Amino acid sequence: MNNDSPQAASNQFFKTRLGVIAATVGSAVGLGNIGRFPYEAGNNGGAAFLFVYIFFVVAIGIPVICAEFVIGRSTRRNIAGAFRELHAGFPWNLPAGTGLLASFLIMGFYSVVAGWTIYYLYESFSGFGGIAETAQLHERFDAFTQTPWKSLVCTLLFLLVNFLVISRGIRNGIEKFSNIMMPLLVVILLAFCINSLFLPGAKEGLSFLFSPDFSKITPGVVLSAMGQTFFSLSVGMGTLATYASYFNDRTALVRTASVTAVSDTIVAILAGIMIFPAVFSFGIQPEAGPRLVFEVLPSIFMKIPLGALWSTLFFILLFMASLTSTISMTEVSTSYIIQEWKLSRKKAVVVNAIIVTVLAVICALSFSVLSGIKIAGMTFFNLSDFLVSNILMPLGGMFISAFVGWRLERRVLRRQLTPEGHSARTPRYISLIVFSLKYVTPVCIFLVFIFGLL
Ligand code: TRP
Repeated sequence: MNNDSPQAASNQFFKTRLGVIAATVGSAVGLGNIGRFPYEAGNNGGAAFLFVYIFFVVAIGIPVICAEFVIGRSTRRNIAGAFRELHAGFPWNLPAGTGLLASFLIMGFYSVVAGWTIYYLYESFSGFGGIAETAQLHERFDAFTQTPWKSLVCTLLFLLVNFLVISRGIRNGIEKFSNIMMPLLVVILLAFCINSLFLPGAKEGLSFLFSPDFSKITPGVVLSAMGQTFFSLSVGMGTLATYASYFNDRTALVRTASVTAVSDTIVAILAGIMIFPAVFSFGIQPEAGPRLVFEVLPSIFMKIPLGALWSTLFFILLFMASLTSTISMTEVSTSYIIQEWKLSRKKAVVVNAIIVTVLAVICALSFSVLSGIKIAGMTFFNLSDFLVSNILMPLGGMFISAFVGWRLERRVLRRQLTPEGHSARTPRYISLIVFSLKYVTPVCIFLVFIFGLL
């Protein structure tokens, strides 16, 4: 198909409002919601943490998502082209560079973890070799990640699926797949939650997550709630700006930003409702991150009726949540390569896939043959995570919000944020968003940034 044909042109925009929501929520909902949020909340004061988290989502999350949307839709360009078109000189245009770098680095380590979900799907079928204790599952996890060919095959398989979706374009690739995967994800998640509420440890699990303990709110907890907000909402890397460049003029930006932020938070809470009753029913210690997902939960699945089925469903859930996130990460660099290097989408995907595959292979091998190679005391896998989560995302978010708050012409902002047909008066919420972008967000991010580095 020729690039100028009407079909090709329509494939450069999202088609429906639901598609826009499915894709942006799909970007936000990922491993961070299922592996990280429940544990952070439970261990940092339960409902008290939730309260602080929701405050940040509203006060900072929604404004920064709006800022990214404005940058993307007002220019309809990739992240570098967008800053150029808005005449953002140095240092305002920093997010273009940090966003592109972050989108490559995050793909490196995120796709390795996403690849693990494929292996665990296979493990679910085979019943984890009959093992049900966390200590043995821990050894099994280590043995798997330390076997180079196994983790390489899984990572490469995941990347293949990811790039196949991306190569099909916006409407036929990203939107179509998000439209299928997001509703499925919600159905599976709800099935888990309902089942969870009938478990013997339901009360204890829910109180771990929801009983407020305000004495646990320390400055450290506040900072980790803020860090979690950025990571979970995928802001600060130009991902949402890139998606917004494919929105049509009628997409209401503030509403889309709010729906994205609220849905992401609901999914995180549902993940907690799914996980903790089960953990407490079996008297297992809640763990963080990969250990929760790849050791604690499998040990529970091995002890419940129809465990293989639940386990399969869980890793399908995790796989889909990861895939809708990685396609949005790769789209940042794909759209950059297409527009700036003037390549066709297919060629851009090949170039991108080569770069990402090299990074992902290094990350995958940093659990085995490359585990001895450390930079600043970290393996390449940990270093990429650190650079993206603690440096590039906060830095990008800070400059994006400061640029839109202080430098961008108010006329552009107002036109983008005012829904069609309401242009007579500037709605009040726009002033609130601008206030947050000018003062609240940059100061808060600066603090996370500094404390994150300490
Ligand atoms: N929000 C994703 C999650 O919760 C992680 C993430 C961080 C992300 N930055 C991103 C996803 C950029 C897509 C694009 O797992």
